[in-house]
Amino acid sequence: MPNKQIVKNIILAIAFGSLLSTAEAQQDIDLNKPSWVKETVAQKSERMEWWRQARFGMFIHWGLYSAAARHEWVQNREKMTREEYHKYFQTFNPDLYNPEEWTKKAKQAGMKYVVITTKHHEGFCLWDSKFTEYKAPNTPAGKDLLKPLVAALRAEGIRVGFYYSLIDWNHPHFPIDRNHPLREASNIASINQNRDIKKYQKYLKDQITELLTQYGKIDELFFDYSYPGPNGKGRDDWDSEGLLKLVRKLQPDIIVNDRLDLGETSWGWDYKTPEQFMPFKWPSLNGVNIPWETCQTFSGSWGYNRDEYSWKSERQLITMLIETVSKGGNLLLNVGPTARGAFEEKADERLKAIGNWMRFNNRSIYNCTQAPAVFEKPDNCLLTYNPETKRLYIHVLSWPFKSLHLKNYKGKFRYAQLLNDGSEIKFKSDIKPGSHTTETTGENDVMLELPVYSPNIEIPVIELILN
Ligand code: GLC
Repeated sequence: MPNKQIVKNIILAIAFGSLLSTAEAQQDIDLNKPSWVKETVAQKSERMEWWRQARFGMFIHWGLYSAAARHEWVQNREKMTREEYHKYFQTFNPDLYNPEEWTKKAKQAGMKYVVITTKHHEGFCLWDSKFTEYKAPNTPAGKDLLKPLVAALRAEGIRVGFYYSLIDWNHPHFPIDRNHPLREASNIASINQNRDIKKYQKYLKDQITELLTQYGKIDELFFDYSYPGPNGKGRDDWDSEGLLKLVRKLQPDIIVNDRLDLGETSWGWDYKTPEQFMPFKWPSLNGVNIPWETCQTFSGSWGYNRDEYSWKSERQLITMLIETVSKGGNLLLNVGPTARGAFEEKADERLKAIGNWMRFNNRSIYNCTQAPAVFEKPDNCLLTYNPETKRLYIHVLSWPFKSLHLKNYKGKFRYAQLLNDGSEIKFKSDIKPGSHTTETTGENDVMLELPVYSPNIEIPVIELILN
């Protein structure tokens, strides 16, 4: 039986144009899979196709903490009670909120999807949830803030993702644990006695049902997060399996992250989420490269942080995008709008710079992935590759003097051009030392003849049309 299944999956994989290894196909016969999980690896690959092609999205962290303006964990860090935190709820009034403008900024930066915090750990909901009073319509904002953003994104063809916090520091049935703002209260045991995690589990399901039934098709769901172990919370606390089953039922095409504490299963997640960290190489599991999306901030905190100055440069951010794609991943780059609902200038400047680079170079990002191993990375360069068009992209991080040496590239490509202006780059191979040069290239090497003056673009890209 299992063999039949594998053969079927390989046929499916070929039909879908994706190459699945036997190791991947074997996931389909994972005996520990719950019976409601029917999808094959090939079907999953097909479901994630748009996401793989998109490569670049915007994360938005926006909530009451934006008013405190000193990190989205402020309630926890400063151990504020619900009462102390209430001042932000009473004053939250984002009079400059313009979802069309946010959408335009994401689009101009070249982002293909946006993931917004519908509820963060503080428990405050941006939408008009029936199951809580702790929501935007009850603040001076006076309305559902999620709906207009979803509409604006859809109107511009940007995919919609929801971040949803599993943690909830406001909910009366969320037992106090090591991450809770009240973790040092003297009467935790007696408070927790009156808290029923089953009621909280129901709340999670009710809210997820609202989010996945009242806002149309949702493309990505970012649960955040599990911290199992002593005095923490994990799959049994959230009823992760039940939650995921519900999600799959309501939105079969949705792509779900890996923070439900089901990481070691073959079915409990769609992609890995390295955070504020650049993997050294394409992350893998049992020898198979896995889908991944790294979420990164401009400056360190996710929510608006007025006094934070550790902002990454435009160049660092563009490099981060390229490096992520060069290792087969997606980049979800975060913006923390202010409590008035605007992006701060430093964010705008960076988005603009990325957008300008993308305008001329997005061919090296969309639909691209890690280059095949036969292409050695030249010095100071990052490679990406489009498997459909069979083009290789050399991102030149430090512009060399006149020539770029490509080892063992002879016969592998037929044309080279600068991507930003489509200008030809001539090349030669089998170079002999001349009267003024010392170098010989190996007989399989190629020398690209570059202009001395670096192209006027943050990181120049050379496109090779492969044979
Ligand atoms: C962490 C933080 C959270 C942030 C998230 C983004 O889990 O708790 O503040 O929203 O990462 O991935």
